[in-house]
Amino acid sequence: MSNNKIIVGNWKMNCLKKDGGNLATQIRQSAKNSANVIVVCPPFTIVSEIATILADSNIDIGAQDCHYEEKGAFTGNISPAMLVDSGAKYVILGHSERRAYHAESSDLVRKKSLAAIKGNLIPIICVGESLAERESGQAKQVVEKQLVESLPENSSNFIIAYEPVWAIGTGKVASSGDILEMHNFIASLPICAGKPILYGGSVNDANSVEILAINNVSGLLIGGASIVAEKFLKIIDNLVGG
Ligand code: 13P
Repeated sequence: MSNNKIIVGNWKMNCLKKDGGNLATQIRQSAKNSANVIVVCPPFTIVSEIATILADSNIDIGAQDCHYEEKGAFTGNISPAMLVDSGAKYVILGHSERRAYHAESSDLVRKKSLAAIKGNLIPIICVGESLAERESGQAKQVVEKQLVESLPENSSNFIIAYEPVWAIGTGKVASSGDILEMHNFIASLPICAGKPILYGGSVNDANSVEILAINNVSGLLIGGASIVAEKFLKIIDNLVGG
């Protein structure tokens, strides 16, 4: 198996044209020799802008959500075709912030995933348990249910991201043991067989090497540290093979 990793920056609701553009320019410059898969996911408003800055580079663009319909009367929504038209290759779906603040069900996430694949995007499908679910010993059951209900057929092209909700934006990264156990568990499920599994939740330049060394961790989904150029670039620099 190759050592290549998948490093995804989720910019969330951050960055205007200028700061997003500066960030993308720095990433382009520093990561130009990287053999790893590097993806940045800006907000919808600057996907095109960032795609132009990263044109003909080894860095890909993702979006942070999409609708499951191709077009129509869905005010405020964005279709997979619109994202592709703007330069995106990936789309994050089912992020816990969408599940929590927009009441997105796993069923909806699955519909979006199918539409994304049909529209030639690679979905990065997020799952993860809450603190209460972990403390009551239900982490694996919750994650398995989310996966079974959210994922498309295994034969299609998608990426899984395990992000324990309690580790997102809290500085509380899951322990290596917990990450290992959950990633091994996810990898053992037939619906996930052979799919890359990213870890996300308080990843930064000080803990990325240790997390990436864990079995069945194929890459990282990074929030806060992905919009701080020095931190994101250090994470990329620290990768095996650069
Ligand atoms: P943080 O890296 O800020 O904890 O966010 C993780 C995340 O939600 C990435 O999708």
